[in-house]
Amino acid sequence: MDNQVMPREQLGVCAEGNLHSIYLMFNANEGVETDLRPCIANVAQYIYELTDQYADSAFNGFLAVGANYWDSLYPSARPAQLKPFPAMNADNRDAPALEYDLFVHVRCDRFDILHLVANEISQMFEGLVDLVDEERGFRFMDNRDLTGFVDGTENPKGRSRQEVALIGDEDAAFKSGSYIHVQKFAHNLSKWNRLPQKKQEDIIGRTKQDNIEYESADKPLTSHIKRVNLKDSDGKSMEILRQSMPYGSVKEQGLMFISNCRNSNNFEKMLESMVHGDGNGNHDHLLHFTQALTGSSFFAPSLDFMQTKAG
Ligand code: HEM
Repeated sequence: MDNQVMPREQLGVCAEGNLHSIYLMFNANEGVETDLRPCIANVAQYIYELTDQYADSAFNGFLAVGANYWDSLYPSARPAQLKPFPAMNADNRDAPALEYDLFVHVRCDRFDILHLVANEISQMFEGLVDLVDEERGFRFMDNRDLTGFVDGTENPKGRSRQEVALIGDEDAAFKSGSYIHVQKFAHNLSKWNRLPQKKQEDIIGRTKQDNIEYESADKPLTSHIKRVNLKDSDGKSMEILRQSMPYGSVKEQGLMFISNCRNSNNFEKMLESMVHGDGNGNHDHLLHFTQALTGSSFFAPSLDFMQTKAG
């Protein structure tokens, strides 16, 4: 691919995991778009530059624009597959939609830097947007979800992170951008912790301590990894890049689930398979122990896209 015409991706989209994260969800004030476009480009540039400045602490981040806000902000062109969050429900398994106009995702191995940067970004946006939700994520043990299971093992590695998460030539105007889906899952840990370990392992489809994948024949059809490990009509694995981290406090805690992908379909099909199951009554039993509180759909454009549109 010709590097000269390759738009620069926002570095947090494909970055490796960190110790800490801050998630800021904003809604825009009425009629601010002319001022917001350059401001967004500045914030994205600021995050990009800090990646060098704080390289020792592996700082990274990205900014993404909500599916429902996109046309107000950038009316002239829309990413081909950008659509609202695919809300769904079956019995008491609920994946609700709760959309926001802007999502700022920053991560670092030093929490003091993140706190400073989050305040700075909030200042840069002053008068243009309202901060409507904020969460702080953290690494738990050796990359485990709060259920105690290692999370992220089967994520794409190396350069295939870009291959999975970033748009290529299929939508040239949005090259190097990424479709982002976010769900804040609150876990019912007291219910989960009452389950015997073998039952927990059957629900995930991997062992807890050593994180060993079950043999295919042993994986229950209701296990999480069975439900999300999907193939397309050509038999090719449907992949997403997960950037999830545990979040919360004693009162409410769980997983900030984040999917970054070059299409919006893979995430939707996986969620459908979890909630609605395989058509034979096999849904994802992990959903008996966690509840999605939000569901938001965004697009993280390339840095160059935001700068071109800054006005
Ligand atoms: C795998 C936890 C939600 C997609 C896993 C694994 C764990 C886990 C422990 C196994 C290790 C790994 O490969 O990472 C959770 C928890 C969730 C959650 C606690 C929410 C409470 C979701 C959602 C999706 C998803 C909403 C997509 C819609 C995947 C995928 C894999 C995976 C694609 C890799 C499967 C494979 O190829 O083996 N998850 N997950 N997860 N999860 Fe989730």
